[in-house]
Amino acid sequence: MMIDTHCHLDEYSYEELKLVLEHMKDHIMIVSGVNDVTNQSVLEFCNQYSNIYGVVGIHPEEVENINQNSFILLESMLSDPKIVGIGEIGLDYHYTKENTELQKEVFIKQIELAKKYHKSVVIHSRDALQDTYDIIKQYKNDHIQFILHAYSGSVEMAKQFIKLGVKFGVGGVVTFKNAIKTKEVVEALPLEHFLLETDSPYLTPEPYRGQKNEPYNVIYVAQKIAELKHLTVNTVIQKTTENAISIFKLPIDSFGKEV
Ligand code: NI
Repeated sequence: MMIDTHCHLDEYSYEELKLVLEHMKDHIMIVSGVNDVTNQSVLEFCNQYSNIYGVVGIHPEEVENINQNSFILLESMLSDPKIVGIGEIGLDYHYTKENTELQKEVFIKQIELAKKYHKSVVIHSRDALQDTYDIIKQYKNDHIQFILHAYSGSVEMAKQFIKLGVKFGVGGVVTFKNAIKTKEVVEALPLEHFLLETDSPYLTPEPYRGQKNEPYNVIYVAQKIAELKHLTVNTVIQKTTENAISIFKLPIDSFGKEV
């Protein structure tokens, strides 16, 4: 059983979604929200499908589009047992650096919610790794489990994050020829620090790069990690599944049975 720890299901047509769910019927998905509308749909997916869990949050690119109600709505979702974390939240300085203070404020506000409700935090960090690190570090004694989704930093930086107990989501990028840093990180660090993810419908792995991604393609991520670490694919799947169950405190065993 595989766990795609990070995907978005809002951008599929009805027909596409049917196939996506069929391909994943023996596997688990953790669906991520980014704003009020997608957070609501994450909750609906969770309620409808037993193999779907969710994280809800306000993405850094959405900070200009929210209001006080966004936080009230978000907080109201956190008592749902299938909402296993807050995400994806964080900092993104790629498109603009003009609202970095607001991004930090919204990020911190949501970390405080994670602390209050004992939820994991799934982080989106783009061109903002040092600021992300500085913020996480302030919470190092608060027992919050942080996951850096689509980590693309250096091995040295990864080791700093590991000291704070942070885990890393590895997705389709690891299969890209030019993703040298991501490959180095996977090679250098033990499997216990990694989770499989797709970020579907984005970041499609080889050999399907360029097409619309789907959670089942997490298998190609597992294959590439196995190749880089000289392990069997089964070992990678089994270990990353165990990691995901423990990191997100999923109420299942590694065969998907409820515990
Ligand atoms: Ni995402």
